[in-house]
Amino acid sequence: MKRVFLETYGCQMNVADSELMAGVLERAGMELVASPEDADAVILNTCAIREHAELRVLGRLGEFAHLKSKNPDLIVGVAGCMAQHLRKRLLEQKRDHKRVLDLVVGPDGYRNLPDLLRRAANVPTAEIRLDRDETYGDLEPKRQPGVRAWITVQRGCDKFCTYCVVPYTRGRERSIPMADLLTQVRHAAEQGFREIVFLGQTVNSYHDGTHGFADLVRAASNVPGVLRLRYTSPHPADMSDELIDAMAECEKVMPHVHLPLQSGSDTVLAAMQRSYTMARYQRVLDRIRARVPGVAVSTDIIVGFPGETEADFLATAEYMKQARFDSAFMFKYSARPDTRSFKLPETVSEDEKGRRLQHLIDQQHQISGEIMDGYLGREVEVLVDGPSWAAKGGKPNQAGKPARADATPQLHGKSREFKTVVWSDDGSEPGTLQRVRIVGATPVTLLGESVRVPRPDPLVLIGG
Ligand code: SAH
Ligand code: SF4
Ligand code: F3S
Repeated sequence: MKRVFLETYGCQMNVADSELMAGVLERAGMELVASPEDADAVILNTCAIREHAELRVLGRLGEFAHLKSKNPDLIVGVAGCMAQHLRKRLLEQKRDHKRVLDLVVGPDGYRNLPDLLRRAANVPTAEIRLDRDETYGDLEPKRQPGVRAWITVQRGCDKFCTYCVVPYTRGRERSIPMADLLTQVRHAAEQGFREIVFLGQTVNSYHDGTHGFADLVRAASNVPGVLRLRYTSPHPADMSDELIDAMAECEKVMPHVHLPLQSGSDTVLAAMQRSYTMARYQRVLDRIRARVPGVAVSTDIIVGFPGETEADFLATAEYMKQARFDSAFMFKYSARPDTRSFKLPETVSEDEKGRRLQHLIDQQHQISGEIMDGYLGREVEVLVDGPSWAAKGGKPNQAGKPARADATPQLHGKSREFKTVVWSDDGSEPGTLQRVRIVGATPVTLLGESVRVPRPDPLVLIGG
């Protein structure tokens, strides 16, 4: 048991968890491989947020079943948020000679992953206990290369929104001690990461017993080598003045907030148990915009929650028009087993959910487009990510050539507001801050041209 293939589904926290698993596996002498065909064990790190997310994983497991029929020694494992549900299947197939799943491991079982894998080679193994004390704060992850380090500051969730499976799949909320997090930030900066993104399901309810989230943000933004700091997702009800002040006052904390609204109707918000009203949300938004000029605000919306009337839906659409979010992730309600709203009769048909969703998508597309057009002619500061595959005509093919020969090399990066910016390759190094003038815009991308100041000629400097 040496080579492990790890594939990740779901949110950024799962991506961060996979980096954690990668660190644990490598320290145990195991090696991560890029293809399931080369692996002794495959692990899917899964998501359960909507039914569609689970169906994708089940489809992939079907492919692994096929692989296993050719290589019966292959260990197939499922980690992450779907583990809870899959445990039953694992136990059911214990006596089944066509067993596919060997290991099921929940989000709090990663510390012992190497042992679990070894055990799974002999007997089907499940580790799905949720552990109120596990934070992994002391474990160094193996980060994907890049300019951005994602650091989980808080695990679990205590909010129990009635539609949401996360409190059941990830357990109770717990914060990682600030000292451990600052060590992680320092290590990331030393490894060359320039932007830190703090992660938590309600990241701004972070509290380690001594320090709150605003303290953490201020302390981390002072770590040498960190150029930028962001966080996601804050909960509107936990958006403190201290945090907004920290955003306003710390130059390295970026003017960008993802503030999930879910619905623009107080009736629906109450049924979702979101713990804020529209008036409260608006006050928070007003305060952020007043204190942090030019801030970009994005949101999440669910359409078709049980009981959502046409009037409730129109209230959401109207509010989104008025609030003018920079962007929005919009979803059809998906009933999840275990949650409280699972028991509610669905009152909005799939077709009607689709119609409502499309209406909001079209409206938001228009608003996002107008906001992006507002950048035309402006100079923005961009943190350089690297070459832009899209602009190069797709990822390089196997010969390492861009898929389209006529494409000119381009770079991409993020503005302070987290907008994607693409501009022609001016030799800027990944991880540096550059000025770029915006000359074109789509609802999702800004197109720029370099305004790099050419380096002064050293001879002229010496001579002068
Ligand atoms: N903790 C974050 C949300 C994490 S889940 C917060 O509370 O802001 C990301 C998004 O998925 C949610 O904001 C919500 O819009 C959506 N979502 C969660 N459960 C869902 C469900 N059962 N059906 C449809 N969308 C859902
Ligand atoms: Fe889910 Fe609500 Fe917790 Fe977000 S705050 S993870 S939506 S229960
Ligand atoms: Fe999915 Fe779990 Fe994240 S359910 S969205 S992977 S916390």
